[in-house]
Amino acid sequence: MKKLEQLYEGKAKKVFATDQPDLVIVDYKDDATALNGKKRGTIKGKGAINNMMTNRLMQMLEKNGVPTHFVEEISDRETVVKKVSIVPLEVIIRNVAAGSLSKRLGIPEGTPLRKPVIEYCYKCDELDDPMVNEYHIAAMGWATDEQMKLIAEYALKVDSVLIRFFKEINVELIDFKLEFGVTSDGTLVLADEISPDTCRFWDATTHEKLDKDRFRRDMGGVEEAYIEMARRLHIEE
Ligand code: TMP
Repeated sequence: MKKLEQLYEGKAKKVFATDQPDLVIVDYKDDATALNGKKRGTIKGKGAINNMMTNRLMQMLEKNGVPTHFVEEISDRETVVKKVSIVPLEVIIRNVAAGSLSKRLGIPEGTPLRKPVIEYCYKCDELDDPMVNEYHIAAMGWATDEQMKLIAEYALKVDSVLIRFFKEINVELIDFKLEFGVTSDGTLVLADEISPDTCRFWDATTHEKLDKDRFRRDMGGVEEAYIEMARRLHIEE
């Protein structure tokens, strides 16, 4: 497979065309941003860790009945994925109160939730990704009702599979963000990444943060946290 021209550069990844129209190559960067791009930095080794962790988790999810964009890992930072049209939503799933939910509702971080919470945000940098509900989504035509039904079903499946998996490496899955896309044949698939950039991972015993919150909140030990997650997942660097 040939890596052709760059199609897109995001905050953490670049996307390249290939010689096959339905496939693209994602190239993970070490760049990190927070506060919707207002805070910038580099997390050494992050690109490779996020690439390998995402691929490992996507393959596991496929086996559990969640279709994904994953095709083939071609280097430590590069993966061939199906070309999709991204549904312009950030799908957030929460098991324990943290971050913006804690702020919005005044619930201390670490408070368990009685059942998983799904939230949707409209992907729009200029508007800081505002939270929306199913009525907004249907009214704007960002996804069909049928797609939204599948998105919620897949999101809860991802949650239960990942909770069980991370528990085995003594990590508590606090919350995470998913993105979905539609392939050329109209299939809805899980896309983007599942990594310490997009999940909150707490050590199940010490509650130490092992994710990007260390960067967002200037806590130090950022690279060490990514490396620790890679170590627990037995990802070779
Ligand atoms: P929040 O508490 O800031 O709303 O974040 C919830 C989860 O979603 C957390 O695991 C981080 C992830 N997330 C992203 O991956 N990208 C984003 O743009 C936002 C706002 C959150």
